[in-house]
Amino acid sequence: MRLTVLSTLFLATTSLAAGSALAAGDLNLICAADVVICEQMKGDFEKDHDIKVNMVRMSSGEAYAKIRAEARNPKTDLWWAGTGDPHLQAASEGLTEEYKSPMLDQLQDWAKSQAESSGFKTVGVYAGALGWGYNTDIFKQKGYKEPKCWADLLAPELKGELQIANPNSSGTAYTALASLVQIMGEDKAFEYLKALNANISQYTKSGSAPVKAAARGETGLGIVFMHDAVAQIAEGFPVKSIAPCEGTGYEIGSMSIVKGARNMENAKIWYDWSLKPEVQSRMKDAKSFQLPSNKTAEIPKEAPRFEDIKLIDYDFKTYGDPEKRKALLERWDREIGAVAN
Ligand code: G6P
Repeated sequence: MRLTVLSTLFLATTSLAAGSALAAGDLNLICAADVVICEQMKGDFEKDHDIKVNMVRMSSGEAYAKIRAEARNPKTDLWWAGTGDPHLQAASEGLTEEYKSPMLDQLQDWAKSQAESSGFKTVGVYAGALGWGYNTDIFKQKGYKEPKCWADLLAPELKGELQIANPNSSGTAYTALASLVQIMGEDKAFEYLKALNANISQYTKSGSAPVKAAARGETGLGIVFMHDAVAQIAEGFPVKSIAPCEGTGYEIGSMSIVKGARNMENAKIWYDWSLKPEVQSRMKDAKSFQLPSNKTAEIPKEAPRFEDIKLIDYDFKTYGDPEKRKALLERWDREIGAVAN
């Protein structure tokens, strides 16, 4: 009897030791949010675990392209954050691993449905609505009217005053493209984008760059997620954030484990950890003002609330579908990218 207890104890200790041995080592992470929150997450995770995080920061479309290119020999273990559409595309292409986190029950419905609709190959980590931020000093000095609607962004006086990212690299800009298609219909949306092109001075690589440029007076207005405009206000810049009057789309920022990840156990440890309320509640410290996916995480007081915004019923399934995303990006390249300044 005594022996059995002892041997059970021995077995338990060795398997615990094996468990913690697995939990050491490395985690190769792509972070597709802003660099400040990426660094904060990496630092907090490393403080809590004996795991070294090798992190690269990329925009959402670039992250997808990297994971696709590495499919036969994955170098990345986990892709945290960035807009949901490319995560859904990767899920349907079998590039990411099915994982049912024990944390799922603690999440908002929108985060859970992102998981369910992808066969648990991705999950929602935050949400945020699309809009824009403009430099109030520039608009005042130049006597421009406040643009409240998508239509107002076509005002001829705004020629060269606007920036938005390129939807190939940026999930923000792809969300804008897909939202306009859902609001106006595809042909009308492309007509709109062609007209808008006259006012765009630059298509940036990263989604939030346009409002950072507006904050610093390098351009008048950036079409971005509203929380990225709010982050510039929190930094003390003269920016106002706007929710478009016709309605707007939103992102479900997501997270996926790469299929065949070399550090699979460590990827799952990050996955569960990053869905914890205390981790998500700290995101505001990096001026990351999205709506957190854990129901009990603290919603930052600065976060634009969905109740106050005219949101469309964004069709994530359709616009995260590989065929649709590819077709829209190709049309954008032909009709907008090719003629862009
Ligand atoms: C910013 C936002 C995130 C968003 C990300 C997408 O970091 O704060 O909410 O997911 O942009 O980045 P991208 O460069 O792909 O547009």
